[in-house]
Amino acid sequence: MGIQISPSILSADFAHLADEVARVPTADWLHVDVMDNHFVPNLTLGLPVVESLRAVAAQPLDLHLMITDPDRWAPSYAEAGGANVTFHAEAAQAPLRTARNLQAMGARAGLALNPGTSVEPYADLLGSFDMLLIMTVEPGFGGQPFLPQVLAKLARARQIAQSQGLDIWLQVDGGVSESTIGACAEAGADVFVAGSAVFGADNPDAMVSHLRQLAESASPKPIASA
Ligand code: DX5
Ligand code: ZN
Repeated sequence: MGIQISPSILSADFAHLADEVARVPTADWLHVDVMDNHFVPNLTLGLPVVESLRAVAAQPLDLHLMITDPDRWAPSYAEAGGANVTFHAEAAQAPLRTARNLQAMGARAGLALNPGTSVEPYADLLGSFDMLLIMTVEPGFGGQPFLPQVLAKLARARQIAQSQGLDIWLQVDGGVSESTIGACAEAGADVFVAGSAVFGADNPDAMVSHLRQLAESASPKPIASA
């Protein structure tokens, strides 16, 4: 698995979602932010919109659940069409059971960590997940500035995964742009969410290619052995 780009439709025109999705044909995934106005102070979309997106998107859906009680709701999002379903560690009561439920339904399971949540307490859980999402902004809104403080955690997450011999994808989300994607790739990220950088560009698909090329040319820094 190489570099993957997952444009976030949070920055797209919600009145024309099918047209917006068609503007990023070379994207690997389509990132869909589900917010419930409880876990984060913003409200976006839910199961019916996910189902409709699945019907028109060429790419698999990368669902990012910013909701309370993901243990109850995440499986419904896999059923609605999420090829990847990521939920927040801060919101889950039974993350391992929820991951297993998602995987039993044929979806990939992702665990997300807010900027202020350390990765170390979750080290033993990573082997049960297909992806770890390291938030590089506080979740809730697109267009926020990238938090460079999170890069050290990203590198530590890569190191933990490597020391356990895990084949886990490492995703970054928030403020990912031409100017920040290289640092994320160097720290070990391989799946990149970009909302405003992609849908704010004159040519969103050209931006997808550009971001991919920048990430590919930023080689991960070698990890010092312990
Ligand atoms: C924020 C969302 C992101 C958002 C990123 O809570 O999870 O997916 O769309 O937007 P940008 O790339 O503009 O920071
Ligand atoms: Zn997101």
